[in-house]
Amino acid sequence: MDHDSPASSDLLAESRDIWDANAEAWDARMNRGGSWQETLIAPTVEKMLNIEPGQRVLDVACGNGIFSRRLADLGASVVAADFSPRLIELARQHTTEHTEHIRYQVADATDEAQLLALAGDGERFDAAVCNNAIMDMPAVEPLFRAVAQLLKPGGCFVFTVMHPCFNGQSIAKLAELADYDLEPTYSIKISRYLSAEVTKGVAISEQPQQQYYWHRPLHLLLNSAFESGLVMDRLEEPVIKADNPASNAFTWANYDMPPLLFVRLRPFGSPSAP
Ligand SMILES: C[S@@+](CC[C@H](N)C(=O)[O-])C[C@H]1O[C@@H](n2cnc3c(N)ncnc32)[C@H](O)[C@@H]1O
Repeated sequence: MDHDSPASSDLLAESRDIWDANAEAWDARMNRGGSWQETLIAPTVEKMLNIEPGQRVLDVACGNGIFSRRLADLGASVVAADFSPRLIELARQHTTEHTEHIRYQVADATDEAQLLALAGDGERFDAAVCNNAIMDMPAVEPLFRAVAQLLKPGGCFVFTVMHPCFNGQSIAKLAELADYDLEPTYSIKISRYLSAEVTKGVAISEQPQQQYYWHRPLHLLLNSAFESGLVMDRLEEPVIKADNPASNAFTWANYDMPPLLFVRLRPFGSPSAP
């Protein structure tokens, strides 16, 4: 998808206004606890990043800063950016500890120059992260290109995204009970995968406005990264665990399929890590 076309820059501006309008609802949900951010994303990404105290980390599309603060708790020095001014305002309000180690900034992750400017003094990052936001962006090439330049040799970029194969507007969760079977079979019906497309939907039921989603099949998503000089050295597809899967037939815990994809990339030529 070409974000330079007038139609898509209008979409980008509209997408930012929608995230601003949904900021309070998103913030409240994150602060309530028990979100995927807390139970699934943070532990998996932390393991993939393997942060050491003193490292410099970039958190792209940081939302209300929930993970940026976790990174600072781990001893990192964090630059955190989001294109929603309201979410950045909320992130600043929530930051009462390690204030000298987190710098929040409004920046659009589809604008390579804005991303490169996040280095500030020009010092590169040990790691970068983008949690569950790439599918919210009309273009991914600027982010991959910028990250390839912003990382130190041997640094890594971990991103999580709604799994393009199993999660999105063109999948339907099914629960079927065959006659005489005691247990249902849980499956996913996929009606479209290869077409890159933009749709609208909700991330959380209480958000006032529907947001845009940009679906990209795996080859489009990952080849953009590879063409930017990044190589992949780790991929995770963690399962969702629920206390009581039986309470809702359509809970992800019933499905042997991952709702999120976790990818770790490194500048080409960097040594790999476990
Ligand atoms: C699903 S939320 C995830 C927020 C945060 N990373 C987390 O895990 O809690 C998606 C975030 O992407 C941000 N976002 C979407 N498009 C963006 C863009 N073009 N540039 C920067 N941030 C963007 C939204 O404002 C929102 O904060």
